[in-house]
Amino acid sequence: MDLDDICATLVKVAREAGEMILLADPSVDTSLTKKNTSDRVTATDRAVENMARQRLMDQYPDFEFLGEETFKVGQELTDAPTFVVDPIDGTLNFIHGFPNTAISLALTVAKQPVVGIVYNPFRKDLFSAIYGRGATLERANGTTATLPLRRNPAPLSGLNDCLVAIEWGSERKGPNWELRTSVSKKLLSADGAMVHSVRSSGSAALDFCYVAAGWMDVFWEGGCWIWDVAAGWLILEEAGGLVAGANPGEWTPTLEGRSYLGVRGAAAGQRVVVEQLWGHMNGQKFRF
Ligand code: IPD
Repeated sequence: MDLDDICATLVKVAREAGEMILLADPSVDTSLTKKNTSDRVTATDRAVENMARQRLMDQYPDFEFLGEETFKVGQELTDAPTFVVDPIDGTLNFIHGFPNTAISLALTVAKQPVVGIVYNPFRKDLFSAIYGRGATLERANGTTATLPLRRNPAPLSGLNDCLVAIEWGSERKGPNWELRTSVSKKLLSADGAMVHSVRSSGSAALDFCYVAAGWMDVFWEGGCWIWDVAAGWLILEEAGGLVAGANPGEWTPTLEGRSYLGVRGAAAGQRVVVEQLWGHMNGQKFRF
């Protein structure tokens, strides 16, 4: 399998998707509610996924395809080469015109991501990685840098020195919601971890990339899906980062586990930070 070739195809699809997203007018785009009012899909999400499916299946007809908008309950990731696609990660940002939105494209083999692309067309940031070959960021000015961007990343001395990405998802009641809010409060509180601060960018795919770049230290979310994270996961690992599960003890998370914790790379102290964050969960776990 020629991963360079596949990576080049995914970059092409990402850039075409970016043009579609930039041309779309979210104020007139049909926006439909899925599970509740904070879980949305637009005509552009569907159009981008259709385009990506068509381009990828034309070129790689023997591969499988798993996309957010065409996913059917019961569809599982298999060992077969599979394109995992989120046409717009950060749909709510897109609807509001907040320019932190990306297309996320990954290829998995044996349920592991081997190529990952995350592209934000508004900033023209293209994050990419191939398994075993490192991760890069190509920016609007055409320069490409290896991730993480800091040449001598400071070691992670503990959670209290961290800028932490936490996403809220669309599940706003029940035990998972209670856990998310109580841990967030503990992380921010002077009586808890008192992290530097918490950020919610609205795109789990970009959060992974921001941690890979070293712009943030930790990403923690229970509730997102494989298409939100498959590409970002590889980008973070290839940048030397650590990917664990959001739940205590999950040192070997799975792509389909819906629970993710990422810590920035090339820095000592990653496992300490993971254990400290888990400690603030008081033995509770996300359940799906
Ligand atoms: C969502 C975003 C959001 C995260 C959700 C995801 P979507 O993806 O990544 O930040 O909190 O869990 O589902 O719906 O915009 O593709």
